[in-house]
Order: sequence, then structure tokens, then C-alpha cells
Amino acid sequence: MDRFVVTGPTPLEGEIAVGGAKNAVLPLMAAALLARGETVIENVPDLVDVRFFMTILEELGARCVMVKNQLKIDTTNQDGCNASYDLVRKMRASIYVLGPLLAFHGKARVSLPGGCAWGPRPVNLHLDAMQALGAKLDLDEGYIVGSTSGGLKGTRFRFEPVSVGATANVLMAAVLASGVTELENCAVEPEVTGLAEALVRSGAKIEGIGTANMRIDGVDEIAPLRHRVMADRIEAGTFMAGVAMATGRVTMTGVNAEHLRSVTSVLQDIGCEVVVDQDLITVEMTGRPRAVEVVTRPYPGFPTDMQAQIMAVCALADGTSFMTDTIYHDRFTHVSELNRLGADIRLDGSKATVFGAEKLQGAPVMATDLRASAALVLAGVAAQGVTQVNRVYHIDRGYEKIEIRLAALGANIRREKY
Ligand code: UD1
Repeated sequence: MDRFVVTGPTPLEGEIAVGGAKNAVLPLMAAALLARGETVIENVPDLVDVRFFMTILEELGARCVMVKNQLKIDTTNQDGCNASYDLVRKMRASIYVLGPLLAFHGKARVSLPGGCAWGPRPVNLHLDAMQALGAKLDLDEGYIVGSTSGGLKGTRFRFEPVSVGATANVLMAAVLASGVTELENCAVEPEVTGLAEALVRSGAKIEGIGTANMRIDGVDEIAPLRHRVMADRIEAGTFMAGVAMATGRVTMTGVNAEHLRSVTSVLQDIGCEVVVDQDLITVEMTGRPRAVEVVTRPYPGFPTDMQAQIMAVCALADGTSFMTDTIYHDRFTHVSELNRLGADIRLDGSKATVFGAEKLQGAPVMATDLRASAALVLAGVAAQGVTQVNRVYHIDRGYEKIEIRLAALGANIRREKY
């Protein structure tokens, strides 16, 4: 296994190119299954999760080739409908193949994903919506076995609670269903909107994109997708949080500042100066962060995927911060690890109280999920002395070569085997 060895504190200075969004590319890859031919996706980040999704598509009979950051998915001879447990259990987003398989082939056999580092994470909405679209679903030895008679049929479905994954999955399915599908309380995360726009450019008929209510008029077929993946707002936000903690001045290039409004606003409250110039965001920080109160909410609210990183910033704040995660109530595995670095964070249900410490002290810590790992790496950059972040495979799932990019900004970080 790999770990990062970070020696701090060092300020972060310079420029960093933000990569394509992991959470945008995964549903786009699944959407390749909605058409025969070659889907081409540009600005694809070379992440473990992307490589992994390529394996799933290949198991289904598609051919995937990634050169630099362009991914080609050829579905000309794709006819498999079985996504096996061995693959699905490693990545929950594998469930994204369910909608496209049912829509295109009228059948699917997809392993139920298991739990994850922060709770059970159900898929009931994905299943209920597919059934509302007329799919017959059975559970057989841990697999969702689905079929349709004569294809999926338009329906009306309301997501409760609002779900990014279920919205994307059902949207893909509804594109090829016969008749009209009305979806209520849809997720409006940019990654869902990007998927809808890509589908429309390929011939899908979708109204209400970017709003909570989408209306899909089913079509017989769509063309293979051609799409450029949007910048990863969470990756950008992570580097911004790094500057807030470690101080310095960093310009992020290739970003969409609109997607980062809630994060930017919190970082400004923390004391960062943030300047937006088209697709550039420059963040500057001097001195100690100010304490803040943050509540995670669906987009355009503050993202749960930034909760751990901002908590790491608050660990060093001058004052007491409060953080509540309303999306994943127990997404707090980073708390005990940050406390190992000298933070003083106390948990009460889904609310964390962060008593700011003047400094953090390096220590060995263990990464438990993707964003928690990012928080620990940032904390290591800002902490005094050496921090070992173990099990960095989590971070490789969502950040491309993070240690090389942080080192280019002045962090003292290296990867080593253990
Ligand atoms: C996606 C993101 C993840 C992010 C999350 C919330 C991807 C690959 N992952 O995950 O990084 O943290 O959105 O922004 O894009 N729920 C149900 N039933 C369901 C589905 C979800 O009750 O069938 C609940 C969940 O338990 C959670 C809430 O809905 O409380 C939101 O989850 P959801 O938006 O579905 O998250 P994911 O799509 O899995």
C-alpha cells in the first residue's frame, strides 16, 4: 500500500490546473450504454474510479480506451447485462449502469452495492423509479435482476430525499422510455445538469434541466455522446481549503466559479480573499482562519463532499466552529484522525463542534474515505512536523496525482510504499 509523508507547515503558492469532475464523468460513462457506437469524452481525469468504471463497461462488452484525458467507449458490440459483485462492491457509482441497461437492452443483472465508510447509503430510489418506469425487478443472491416487457414506459416519479445518483440513473433510463416521464424533486447538482445537457446534444428530449422538475419525452434512440467534462468543483474547493489552512496564494485554472459559490462564501467568512476572473479563481490567505458555522445541503447549498476539508480548516480557527451534515449524518470518520493531529472536535450526532487550536502537530493518521483523506493531507501540510497519511488509495479514487500537484505549490509531500 501507499502512504503520503507530509512535512509541514508550508504555505501554498502558485497555479494549479483543476481536472475534470469525477462525479460528472461516471454517469457520462454509463450513458455510453444508451447508444451503439463510439462515445468520446474529453477532459476525463485519470482516476482510480474512472479506470474502475472502464473495467465495468468492459465486463459489459464495451471497449474503452483512454489516451491522455480523452476517453473513447465503443459499444458497437456491447451486449452484456451483468455487473458482477466483485466490481460493484468496490464502487457504489456502478449502480449507474442499471438505468442504461434496462433502457437499452430491456434487462439488467447488477449487484446491489454494499454499505460504505459512512453508513448504509441505500439505493431504494433507483429501484423504485425503475419499477415506476415499468421494469420488473427481483433480488436474487444479492443481485438486482431487472427486465421489461416491451421496454420502459414514461411515468411520474418524485425523489424523496433528493438524490444525485438516483436522478442521474433515472434520467438516463427515461431518455429511451416510451412516452413522457415527469421527475420531481430532482437533484440540481452541476454534474446532473451536465449529464442532461450531454444527453440532449445526443438527441434526448429533456425540459427543465437545472431545475427540480424535469420532463423527458422518450425517443427511440440517441447518438453516442460527445462531451467535455466540467471542472471538478470539489477538487477546486479542496485546494482552496488548503490555502485557507496553510496560508499563501494559489490560482486555480479551468474552474467554473458559479459551481463554487457556497464554498467560496464560506472561505470568505473564514478570512480568505477570493478573486474570480473568468475561469480562474485566486485564493489568498494570511493569518489564522476565523471560525464559521456550516451546514451541508444539496446544491446550491454547501456540499457534503467539502465538509471534511472545511472541518480541517476550522480545526485551526480562532474560535469555535459548528458543522452539521444533513446529507450523510455520520460522515465523520475524519474527526478522530484530525483529533490525533491535535484538533479538538467533538461530535454530537450529525453536528460537530470544532474548538480551534493554535496549531496542529504531525502524527500518523489513517484515511478512511476519499474526502476524509483529502482533509488529512491538507491538515498535514498545515501541521508542525511529519504527518503520515496511510491508505491513500482512497485519495487516488478522486484526485489525480495530488501529491505532485501539492508539491508544485510548495508542499513538502511524498508518496512511499509500506
Ligand atoms: C453523490 C456523489 C457523492 C456526494 C453525494 C451527495 C457521485 C458518484 N457521488 O453520491 O460524492 O457525496 O452525491 O452530494 O456522484 N438516498 C436514499 N435512497 C437512494 C439514494 C439516496 O435515501 O436510493 C439518500 C442518501 O442516503 C443520502 C441522500 O439521499 O442521504 C443523498 O444521496 P445521493 O445524492 O444519492 O448520493 P450519491 O448519488 O450516492
